[in-house]
Amino acid sequence: MLKIAPSILSADFCNLERDIRRVSSADWLHVDVMDGMFVPNITIGVPVVESIRKYTDLFLDVHLMVEKPGRYVEAFARAGADLLSVHLEADMPPFLKEALHAMDQCGVKKAVALRPITAAEAVLPYLELGVDLVLVMTVEPGFGGQKFMADQLPKIAAVRRYIEQYRPGCDLEVDGGINAQTARQVIDAGVNVLVAGSAVYGADDPAAAIAALRG
Ligand code: DX5
Ligand code: ZN
Repeated sequence: MLKIAPSILSADFCNLERDIRRVSSADWLHVDVMDGMFVPNITIGVPVVESIRKYTDLFLDVHLMVEKPGRYVEAFARAGADLLSVHLEADMPPFLKEALHAMDQCGVKKAVALRPITAAEAVLPYLELGVDLVLVMTVEPGFGGQKFMADQLPKIAAVRRYIEQYRPGCDLEVDGGINAQTARQVIDAGVNVLVAGSAVYGADDPAAAIAALRG
């Protein structure tokens, strides 16, 4: 089933409760955590996730764009995240595996994320570890509102093939530049979770934008 995950990065942080309510027809809520090191931008952290948790029952999909993300797994799990994704470029493989193990211990779903430069094959050891989701970035992580990178489509299709072969049931999510047009391309390539920030919050009617992403 296709899931839509609006990214609150494009919301008005002074009116976050209102803006979360505006996307209540979505399936998940995508929360971008940036540390100013792994990416040049700084966004939000654990206390904000804790506050969001009190105001919504939506599944909280927390995208960690931070160096050495294993340091924060427990804190975000305790704050109420339902799924945590760690970037394959954010630490050495043994530490990333520890982070995924910590997610199991904390009872949150576990995911790995790939920057555009990272090849599809990089997911193989993590599919073997039983990740629940793979996130393929279709922009350089760091900012909302960037242009969709169509050169990631073959990689998305390759990751889908690996999932079918080694970890059927694993979700495949795409993040960056997704709108009603690019949504069709990534769905054709095998994606089943769409993150969208500006396409949802930049629209006059976010609920209509969510419906348009569903196609
Ligand atoms: C970018 C973030 C995205 C961002 C997407 O690094 O990971 O989640 O909010 O924004 P749009 O949909 O505007 O590209
Ligand atoms: Zn994101």
